[in-house]
Amino acid sequence: MSQLNTARASREINGVRVPCFIYGTAWKEEATQGLVENALKLGFTGIDTANQRKHYFELGVGHGLQKIYQQEKISREQLFLQSKFTYQRGQDDRLPYDPSASLTEQVLQSFQSSLEHLGTDYLDAYLLHGPSQREGLSEDDLEVWTAMEGLYRDGHIKLLGVSNFSARQLEGLTLHTDIRPRIVQNRCFASMGWDREVRAACQHHDIIYQGFSLLTANHAILGHPQFQAIVSRTGLTAAQVIFQACQRMGMLTLTGTTQSDHMNQDLHCDKVALTDEEVNAIENMFI
Ligand SMILES: NC(=O)c1ccc[n+]([C@@H]2O[C@H](COP(=O)([O-])OP(=O)(O)OC[C@H]3O[C@@H](n4cnc5c(N)ncnc54)[C@H](OP(=O)(O)O)[C@@H]3O)[C@@H](O)[C@H]2O)c1
Repeated sequence: MSQLNTARASREINGVRVPCFIYGTAWKEEATQGLVENALKLGFTGIDTANQRKHYFELGVGHGLQKIYQQEKISREQLFLQSKFTYQRGQDDRLPYDPSASLTEQVLQSFQSSLEHLGTDYLDAYLLHGPSQREGLSEDDLEVWTAMEGLYRDGHIKLLGVSNFSARQLEGLTLHTDIRPRIVQNRCFASMGWDREVRAACQHHDIIYQGFSLLTANHAILGHPQFQAIVSRTGLTAAQVIFQACQRMGMLTLTGTTQSDHMNQDLHCDKVALTDEEVNAIENMFI
């Protein structure tokens, strides 16, 4: 069995309870509020967003949360809320900060605006949406991280993290910063051993690995005979098999489904257990 093929993702880190499935809110525009309400009603307890209006409607997430607090017996403390700081190059002209301000100031402005959007005074996790350059880390990345560390030290954030990072960039950040990342959120390709290198670095540094595009980046797996045999044996949907296998590899999974039946399926992706051999086969299917 592969070394990474361990139990489901760790649920508690740094004293913070982290759900093993998070509902992602990208690309939902005006439907964001309703979909967040629906996801929380159906049982999701974690929400991922970003203060990046180009792809996310963070204020819509906040409206969904307020509705849920009023209508359901769910309080802020029961939820895991995660947002991100995005550099200007990843934004359109609807910026959550003054682009002429220093990066430190941009982080503070973006974070404050996230708190206002989400109607909260703290975030469970706050991520740097992506490094400023393809290879290595820049002075800009270190300045942004230092500003995020300040917010963490002041108690406004429980866990710091990064997204779209390579294993090398992650190692660099853990070496050069005081407060190391506890979350990495990456696009996850089966063809790269489901981001094996980054997951190994995460395991080494006790970092939670969050995988996205688990379905959309891995269509090829659906036609694999061994994968099809696993789907037939378990009676699970292909999506459920992928999500469960990823969780059993140690990942926290993200879904942004817009369908209630898919939300339910995703939340119950482990209703029939895969064998260790099946998880191992899926993990190594394309490498
Ligand atoms: N950090 C980053 O740079 C970054 C980038 C991309 C995404 N993300 C985060 O990750 C979240 C998820 O994004 P994603 O890229 O993984 O894609 P996604 O938005 O989850 O889309 C997944 C696709 O799979 C379908 N699907 C979901 N559950 C299914 C099921 N049980 N059966 C069949 N089809 C199913 C969905 O269709 P239906 O809607 O019809 O179910 C949708 O077409 C985003 O919302 C965002 O929060 C982060």
